[in-house]
Amino acid sequence: MKLIVTENYDEMSKEAFKVMKELLESKPNAVLGLATGSSPVGLYQNMIKDHKENGTSYKDVHTYNLDEYVGIDRNDPQSYYTFMNENLFKDVDINPENTHVPYGSTDEEAKKYDESIEKVDLQLLGIGRNGHIGFNEPGTPFDQRTHIVDLTESTIEANKRFFDNDITKVPTQAITMGIGTVMDAGKILLVASGEDKADAVKAMVEGEPDINWPATVLQNHPDVVVIADKAAASKLSK
Ligand code: GLP
Repeated sequence: MKLIVTENYDEMSKEAFKVMKELLESKPNAVLGLATGSSPVGLYQNMIKDHKENGTSYKDVHTYNLDEYVGIDRNDPQSYYTFMNENLFKDVDINPENTHVPYGSTDEEAKKYDESIEKVDLQLLGIGRNGHIGFNEPGTPFDQRTHIVDLTESTIEANKRFFDNDITKVPTQAITMGIGTVMDAGKILLVASGEDKADAVKAMVEGEPDINWPATVLQNHPDVVVIADKAAASKLSK
């Protein structure tokens, strides 16, 4: 696991963009695993800026998103489908047919999505306060494929800010790539920002692989880059 610690969120986003740009230059038809949340937004902004200023094209890029809420309309402002369109897809030249965000509430739909995913070159990840990746909450087996999951109270609490701070409006389930699915990617890029991620970052970087901290599984992957800002890295001992 390669760790880069940056001064702040903007520097974290720039470092993450360097990793992304290197891949797009060597492989313009890359398959990207994408993530939502506030952590990757700065990276997406760098990608959009680079597309507009330098003409980096996404026309041959294919994308597969990690997760989506269950029971929310695709076009709901809070759906991850909407998030991806608003924060990246609408501002680059990607073919909408090449973008994929999971959708559904059944095991069959989850299996179908899992089987549709091409070999991912670069999987982008954020990290939850409790160490979740995608919506793989603590206790998720490391070999699990795309599945339907009940969100933990901690995740519902963390995400209520997007739902008028009203906990009753936050969906209680999600469809998510499993940890086994995530681990199939050739390379993994995880971005973490802010003090509330410090415990999860410490467990991921310094702890033993442990299903109670899902991101610790990344220690078993041969090519992981973690980019954390100073606050997210503040509990690391080294
Ligand atoms: C959400 C998402 C994750 C994301 C995490 C952190 O629940 N399902 O994919 O990485 O929480 O979000 P943020 O980056 O906004 O802190």
